[in-house]
Amino acid sequence: MRVGVVGCGQIVEQGHLPVLLRTPGLHLTGLVDLVPERARRLAGQAEAAGRPVPAYRDTAELVERARPDLVLLATPPSVRSAELRTLGEAGVAVLCEKPLANSVEEADALLSEAARTGARVFMTHNYAFFPEYRLLARLVGEGHIGPVRSVLISCLGSYPWDGAEEFRPGWRHDRALSGGGRLVDTGWHALYLAELLAGRGPTEVTATAEFDPAPPFDRECFAHYRHGDVHVSLAVGTGHGPVAFEVRGEQGRLHLDFDPAAGDYSAVPRAVRLYRDGRLVRSWDVPRERGMITEGLYEEIRRRLAEGDAPYAHSVRHGRDLVATIEATYRAARERRWLPLGTRAEEADHVAV
Ligand SMILES: NC(=O)c1ccc[n+]([C@@H]2O[C@H](COP(=O)([O-])OP(=O)(O)OC[C@H]3O[C@@H](n4cnc5c(N)ncnc54)[C@H](O)[C@@H]3O)[C@@H](O)[C@H]2O)c1
Repeated sequence: MRVGVVGCGQIVEQGHLPVLLRTPGLHLTGLVDLVPERARRLAGQAEAAGRPVPAYRDTAELVERARPDLVLLATPPSVRSAELRTLGEAGVAVLCEKPLANSVEEADALLSEAARTGARVFMTHNYAFFPEYRLLARLVGEGHIGPVRSVLISCLGSYPWDGAEEFRPGWRHDRALSGGGRLVDTGWHALYLAELLAGRGPTEVTATAEFDPAPPFDRECFAHYRHGDVHVSLAVGTGHGPVAFEVRGEQGRLHLDFDPAAGDYSAVPRAVRLYRDGRLVRSWDVPRERGMITEGLYEEIRRRLAEGDAPYAHSVRHGRDLVATIEATYRAARERRWLPLGTRAEEADHVAV
């Protein structure tokens, strides 16, 4: 699979690039960045790894000259629509970093655009491909805890990345670029993991948040979702921790055993443990080493592209629905009440995107 990259910032340098350079069957074919030094810097790293790759002026040139099958769009979320249009019209599939957009209005516009061009757009829901969350989902699916009743997620030691020095360090504090604080930046991952484990999307939300200095910049957000009859409790924020990740079922509880010093659920846990009636029943080890992006994410995209498969999970429709959930959560926190989550793109009659 030929892969181009637009937006050569921190997540690409630390997460995607190593995977793109080492994975057989993935060919990095071109880099683009608004700040040319960023594309040159990553091109230098690719060359040092023996996989030289050209830097292009813009997305149109990348598409024309490098002929990618897939473009990773890893710019800040405010910078998506022009690139998605160019790529959609050229028939190039997109792997879009999260969040899809900074408002439901923008996300709906991107969805209509994708439906118009027939573009294939996948969200970078990378945590769903971490071995520990895959294992957790498999264990739930195998019935080790019976029907799921609740998912408890705490991530109270989460700090925003600065972003690449050459672009706009601290852009996550600029509403126009980031769209919000800890919930949208880090909580996003918890939302799709909770859906995966609850077996369905959220139907209602209530929340409280510490906005700093004002909405939508939450330093801490405590949200409670109902996914039908499954309760999901999410605490996300900057601070001393802790991190906790638990799935409770009618017949037991699955627990991710994190180091007590960890504060963020991107940390690698020591094991997944099954408890029943307050007793440890069984443990499963998880690989101790992994990056923020794993081969499994790209394998899944390659499979979906080859098979023409367009499931909802991690699609642009899913990305749109998560933007709607985030927006409703901020609103619930401001208004201090339960809010129903309206019509989801999951249920709407969108095809192929
Ligand atoms: N999935 C994850 O685990 C994860 C982790 C970190 C960041 N992210 C997401 O990745 C995206 C980038 O975050 P980051 O931390 O790498 O930020 P960053 O600031 O390090 O990088 C952004 C890059 O985009 C470039 N850019 C900005 N506007 C552009 C444009 N119009 N055209 C081309 N390039 C442009 C900048 O020059 C910069 O190099 C964000 O959406 C963020 O939420 C995801």
